[in-house]
Amino acid sequence: MNTRNLLVSCVKGVGRVQLHRPHVLNALNRELIRELVQVLEEMDQQDEIHVILISGGDRFFAAGADIDEMADASAVDMLVTDPFSDWDRIRRISKPMIASVGGYALGGGCELAMICDMIIASEKAQFGQPEINLGVMPGAGGTQRLTRAVGKAKAMEMVLTGRPITAREAFQAGLINRVVPTELLENESMKLAQEVAAKAPVALRLAKQAVLRSFDTTLKEGLDYEQKLFYLLFATHDQEEGMKAFKEKRPPRFFGK
Ligand code: HXC
Repeated sequence: MNTRNLLVSCVKGVGRVQLHRPHVLNALNRELIRELVQVLEEMDQQDEIHVILISGGDRFFAAGADIDEMADASAVDMLVTDPFSDWDRIRRISKPMIASVGGYALGGGCELAMICDMIIASEKAQFGQPEINLGVMPGAGGTQRLTRAVGKAKAMEMVLTGRPITAREAFQAGLINRVVPTELLENESMKLAQEVAAKAPVALRLAKQAVLRSFDTTLKEGLDYEQKLFYLLFATHDQEEGMKAFKEKRPPRFFGK
């Protein structure tokens, strides 16, 4: 697919999407988000892609929604154009998504990273929800996913002061999976993505769904849901293969069937 704001490739089961609007620190305008949704949905359908890795530049992942684009909008413009409908499509991607964050992940940039299932960051990365400084508030998950990840105290502080936190603080708060030296970010992100990409694809999708369900439901309903998905996996070839390979003491060969 031809895109103006993304660099897209596929390496060994990993679909790579690099945000690429460097002159504005990857500010997320409507066009970029539309392209991103389209690419992610295509990757979600492609059998050779098992995991999606989203990255930005060395100094910035994304500095938030494009302020120039939003500045003159009215409430009615917002309601009619409904920019968050595109973000809802990102949250429905069923394959695991990993964010590789090399610098600023602010506002919509932090929210995009948080839609991903895992976040790996360089020592230079910063995570923040600075919308309050613009007279608004987060709108794509910054009050919800952030709070679930770091708890009320830290989320309130970030959202009400707009002050970003460092990658180390984000790690300690449980927002991200790991912090790596800047020069290792690309390799370490790819290593994690390929480790996941080697697993059984159907099990990956259902496991992702089950973990996400835990945020929306009671423990009892979540456990019932988990059980059903577990039983369903016994309809796959990959379950037979995974268990057979274990008994034969060899690595499994998964086909996503
Ligand atoms: C549009 C942006 C931008 C943004 C940076 N730029 N962020 N343009 N929208 N979100 C532009 C600048 O205007 C500037 O353009 C160029 O990128 C370089 O930015 P500088 O500010 O000169 O860089 P620096 O001094 O290094 O500061 C980096 C920064 C700062 C700390 C990240 O740019 C900043 O605070 N950006 C805004 C961050 C923010 O408030 N994000 C939340 C947006 S609201 P010129 O033409 O001057 O070179 C949001 C709502 C989410 O995200 C809702 C869900 C979609």
